[in-house]
Amino acid sequence: MIAAAPVPAAEPVAAPIVQVRGVTKTYAGNVEALSGVTLDFPEGRLTTLLGPSGCGKTTLLKIIAGLIPASGGEVMVAGRKVTGPGPERAFVFQDFALMPWASVIRNVAFGLELRGVPKAEREAAAERHIARVGLKGFELKYPHELSGGMRQRVGLARALAVDAKVLLMDEPFSAVDEQTRRKFQEDMLELVANERKTFIFVTHSIEEAVYVSDRIVILSRRPSRVSAIVEPRIPRGGDPELIRRHPAYLDAVESIWQGLKKYLD
Ligand SMILES: Nc1ncnc2c1ncn2[C@@H]1O[C@H](COP(=O)(O)OP(=O)(O)OP(=O)(O)O)[C@@H](O)[C@H]1O
Ligand SMILES: [Mg+2]
Repeated sequence: MIAAAPVPAAEPVAAPIVQVRGVTKTYAGNVEALSGVTLDFPEGRLTTLLGPSGCGKTTLLKIIAGLIPASGGEVMVAGRKVTGPGPERAFVFQDFALMPWASVIRNVAFGLELRGVPKAEREAAAERHIARVGLKGFELKYPHELSGGMRQRVGLARALAVDAKVLLMDEPFSAVDEQTRRKFQEDMLELVANERKTFIFVTHSIEEAVYVSDRIVILSRRPSRVSAIVEPRIPRGGDPELIRRHPAYLDAVESIWQGLKKYLD
């Protein structure tokens, strides 16, 4: 057994772009999902939310996205209070949320269409992002003609196409096989290294969280609050194959497991 307790968080090196202040959420029927979540998300970093199923991870992402209101507290993005969705934030949904009646290219271009970007321009951008996620040749297919993993890539391409500063990703790799998932994880590392985007990522996989993240936030059981923050001290930017072999990788996996275990029945 290695480190038993979660490593205390160090001061984030980058300024926070997303600030969550005392956010609570109670759904109709008195379901209390979040009970006072306060968190900073540093710019240009990847932060992962981990927590027991049903603890409120999707709820928190949706509140940051402005898709649903908080019951209390507030969210600031780039210094502005969130009151609804905005072009600086893009959401990759747990269930893809593709439009079944629209082709791949139209799905990917949809965010740009909403913003009134002319057709030729938005389709050119969509084509670039479709190629980037490895779906070149599938532009005119419809979601039902794709596998789960391919649909997930369409969702990712759609989020990338709008060129948002903050990408909110709700279990974006949950529906793909292990090999594809590893490839996606490597792609994520590359995206984080090459673009100054801020990623807020949700996964159920401790290993995936440690592999891709600069910071991992452990949420408690519902009604959720921040239980611990783990920052794996793994050097990034080198050979991604070395990450899983780094001693700090194993330490972080163990810390997180210890942090989550107490929420299991
Ligand atoms: N629209 C809604 N109306 C009422 N209750 C809801 C609604 N959406 C979510 N909840 C409840 O809020 C709690 C948190 O749900 P949420 O989807 O945020 O959890 P989660 O952490 O994303 O779970 P999972 O890991 O299974 O995806 C759950 O108890 C859920 O039943
Ligand atoms: Mg969820």
